[in-house]
Amino acid sequence: MTSPCQSRPLASVKVTKRSVRFVCGGCGHVASQWAGRCPDCGAWGEIREEQTPFAASGRSGGRAVVQPLLGVNHADPARLATGMPDLDRVLGGGLVAGSVVLLAGPPGIGKSTLLLQWLSAMAAAGSSGLLVSGEESRAQVGGRASRLGLAADAVSFAPGRDLHDVLASARVSNPAVLAVDSIQTVRDTDAGTQHGGVAQVRGCTDALVELAKTEDIAVLLAGHVTKDGDLAGPRALEHAVDVVLTFEGDPRSGLRVVTGGKNRFGTEGEAAWFQMGANGLSPIDPSELLRSKGVHPGAALALPLAGRRALAVEVQALVGAGDGPPRRQVTGLELRRFQQVAAVLDRAMGTPSGRCELFGAVAGGIKVDDPAADLAIAAALVSAATDVAPPDGAAFVGEIALTGQIRPAPGMEQRIAAARAAGCTSVYAPSDSTTALTGVRVVQATHVAEALGWALSPAGTAPHRRAS
Ligand code: TYD
Ligand code: MG
Repeated sequence: MTSPCQSRPLASVKVTKRSVRFVCGGCGHVASQWAGRCPDCGAWGEIREEQTPFAASGRSGGRAVVQPLLGVNHADPARLATGMPDLDRVLGGGLVAGSVVLLAGPPGIGKSTLLLQWLSAMAAAGSSGLLVSGEESRAQVGGRASRLGLAADAVSFAPGRDLHDVLASARVSNPAVLAVDSIQTVRDTDAGTQHGGVAQVRGCTDALVELAKTEDIAVLLAGHVTKDGDLAGPRALEHAVDVVLTFEGDPRSGLRVVTGGKNRFGTEGEAAWFQMGANGLSPIDPSELLRSKGVHPGAALALPLAGRRALAVEVQALVGAGDGPPRRQVTGLELRRFQQVAAVLDRAMGTPSGRCELFGAVAGGIKVDDPAADLAIAAALVSAATDVAPPDGAAFVGEIALTGQIRPAPGMEQRIAAARAAGCTSVYAPSDSTTALTGVRVVQATHVAEALGWALSPAGTAPHRRAS
């Protein structure tokens, strides 16, 4: 039998070189053929034709460079110290030469400040830097560097609105690191695509990736994200770059966190914490800011993982009576998990939260999405409902199943170490958990009712009732 593919002799297929591609304006999906509906995000009428980067730069032919796969030097890629140890850790041991890092965050979070401090710290550590800005003038950036007292002597500046100017400036000054602030303000006037549109942002990113690879310059791209966390040019840039760092925080508290997402050269999920103050961003250990002193009804300590480290973070709950449909509102927690934990508690512990208004929050304005924070959420909820504070010095770890069983959690060693560092003396944890650390006791529990018994039998573990 002949398959449809075999019916046409290969020799008769004419191979043509493509110089156009089709890019979805909604999600940046790239295809070789036009379609009315994007197969990736499903948007209609968003797919537009654009020239491929090679055609745009006038390279119609191309040189074949084919080499054996093996026989290359397998040594780790060369890494540059950023001068900021926490950032080095997030990047997997420093900034890889010739890599492209996207620093994504909402406007006003501190991207320009971080890039400036980053380049200055690298310059002080011996790596020259070029900052191109399409958002601020040399006077503004220079003024900020002086005000912050940065060692920015080895940092150069160039205006950063025109792609070809940016590429030329980088080739002429040949820095170890090029920072582009921001990728959304860089324009390619030759591309024939809409300024600020996804295709344009993606095309400029491609050109900067090529610069990084051919000139061995590490490139840092600041990228604005919308309130919903979308990059303007949604997701499109993440495919093109080597590392994605997300920059988040609570603008009111000054607490900022840079988390490693996609990373071709290191582990994901590592986090670097900073405090934004009058002198810019200072590295901090967040533990002190993420919990309150003493014990309070409605507050319980969780130990979520952030990369290979764990943090001691206070989870808070409020249970109130309400007329009408009961509200469920969370800040920094996942609403679906919060509601599920509340429903399991109703069943397992007889708490009547079904008719109550429930609120949940995380101290410090950070986000906790580790499922092993379930037990701390449950502890905060049951504590708020009974007005009995958790035992003094306790932390809680474990994902809760719909049956109320507590599932094992990964990274118990790091979590217990974080608990001890935060001054905890006991960790309520899944039944297979143990520790060799002195000064902290693991209270094993298989079911949520077992782990939260202190709320119902105050005599047992000396809970702290709120003075009435
Ligand atoms: P910026 O780096 O301009 O943010 P982005 O580039 O992400 O838009 O930082 C803006 C905010 O940071 C602004 O609200 C002022 C604050 N900030 C300080 O509090 N202290 C400082 O030393 C600096 C430089 C900025
Ligand atoms: Mg900025």
